[in-house]
Amino acid sequence: MELAARLARAAGDLVHEGRPDHVDVAATKSSAVDPVTEMDLAAEALLRSLLAEHRPDDAILGEEGDFHPGSSGLTWVLDPIDGTVNYLYGIPAYAVSVAVVAGGPDPATWTAVAGAVHSVTDGRTWTAGRGLGSYLDGRPLRANAARPLAESLVGTGFGYTLARRTEQGRLVAEVLPLVRDIRRIGAASLDLCSIATGGLDLYYERGLKPWDLAAGALIAQEAGAVVTGLHGAPASEQMLVAGPPASVAALVAFLEQHGAASGA
Ligand code: IPD
Repeated sequence: MELAARLARAAGDLVHEGRPDHVDVAATKSSAVDPVTEMDLAAEALLRSLLAEHRPDDAILGEEGDFHPGSSGLTWVLDPIDGTVNYLYGIPAYAVSVAVVAGGPDPATWTAVAGAVHSVTDGRTWTAGRGLGSYLDGRPLRANAARPLAESLVGTGFGYTLARRTEQGRLVAEVLPLVRDIRRIGAASLDLCSIATGGLDLYYERGLKPWDLAAGALIAQEAGAVVTGLHGAPASEQMLVAGPPASVAALVAFLEQHGAASGA
């Protein structure tokens, strides 16, 4: 947990100090609106070099590079900038997410061991260790108690491909009339940390990659939230729903009825 936090802060400092006034897109990935900046690449390179120094036998799964196999059974799961579009535009919600999992690299089968999410612009760091609780800058966290859906502030997010977005737009139109309101923060790790700190009551998203959810899901769970998928499946790229158990059960039932895990 401490190493995860140290790594996340080190990469966060690099990202913060290296942000020019106008950030250029170095490349695009799944679609023309899925950007990678030079700082995504530089921050991931820094994280990989620190891991080579401190944990040479562990595997590494990072958003911006190839899977690096290891021999220890542990995998570090890295998102060097979660919220790249916010970073690009200077919107302050972006973070470095670092987790270590046993049995990776598939979120449906791994066990998260520890994680840290460092919010770059305000310097806050969330940490969690399995069975050790979750913390914001060292202060123990407790997720909100369950509320009816009509009183719940719900976070969600959108993927980068047209087919996925069309499906997500359909679903969000069904959810919005049911709930207090919807927030799209733009960084899945910060959405999950908001569940841990009570800044959101519920969060759901389809299409998250392992690096988007690894640290944040553990932080939310260790604060007492449930993090799950639909139809009894664990949270995965298919769907992630997070929040207090009773509220999650209500949102999961609604999403299942509306076919949320089918389609793009
Ligand atoms: C994205 C953010 C966003 C979520 C997308 C993710 P990236 O990650 O977490 O909030 O809605 O699904 O891909 O691309 O900024 O690392």
